[in-house]
Amino acid sequence: MNNPTKVIAIDGPSASGKSTVARKVAAGLGYRYVDSGALYRGIAWKAADSGCDVARNEDVVAAMGRMKVEFFEEAGAIRYRIDGVEPRAEIRTERVSGLVSLVAAMPEVRAQVTRWLRDMAQFGDLVMEGRDIGTVVFPGADAKFYLDASPEERARRRHAELKPAGETADVNRVMDSLKNRDQRDSGRATAPLKLAADAQVVDTTGLNIDQVVEVILKRLDKPLSKSSPPLS
Ligand code: DC
Repeated sequence: MNNPTKVIAIDGPSASGKSTVARKVAAGLGYRYVDSGALYRGIAWKAADSGCDVARNEDVVAAMGRMKVEFFEEAGAIRYRIDGVEPRAEIRTERVSGLVSLVAAMPEVRAQVTRWLRDMAQFGDLVMEGRDIGTVVFPGADAKFYLDASPEERARRRHAELKPAGETADVNRVMDSLKNRDQRDSGRATAPLKLAADAQVVDTTGLNIDQVVEVILKRLDKPLSKSSPPLS
């Protein structure tokens, strides 16, 4: 695929550090950041909120067909509203995290989200994070990174994120829930999480966010200049 704009794909499992890293890489390059998982989460949240059985493919597809989804650019990111509402904390709950991998396994949902993600190139150069960005959404991406970290490190990170969101969960339960999600994301028939043949792997275990951002920008041959936004 020949992209009219530049696309950097950042894929990897849950809590591998993709979101914060991708946001900072986008800021460092002056590109727009896209969180593709937030769209799957938004559909799961809205479908559940409208009373549909999120395990039933045809119910979710019908609910998605009724949703009015609009995209806009703000603060260096492409964001979206569903039926006029931009969902935020409500799509980050453990409940939505439990439902979203069911929704993300549905081929019709993936086809629609993939169309939306490809259309975002009209906003300009993108750093897009997800599970299938380098393999399915933008196989011709200008650069592809695959971030990973040990399961223990990922569970620790996710646990630390849940606390400020007001959710309490035991770290072992968080690890079980991540493992279940990894299995569903990697085992599904349509666009499973897998390493693109031409992706560069970055193991983020033991690295902080800024170190990972630096590794990526270096590999892109764009080390941070003094005028780049601060990394903290
Ligand atoms: O990155 P995240 O945890 O917010 O993703 C939420 C869910 O969406 C997760 O189950 C994986 C799925 N997902 C996907 O299947 N493909 C993407 N490109 C992004 C996320």
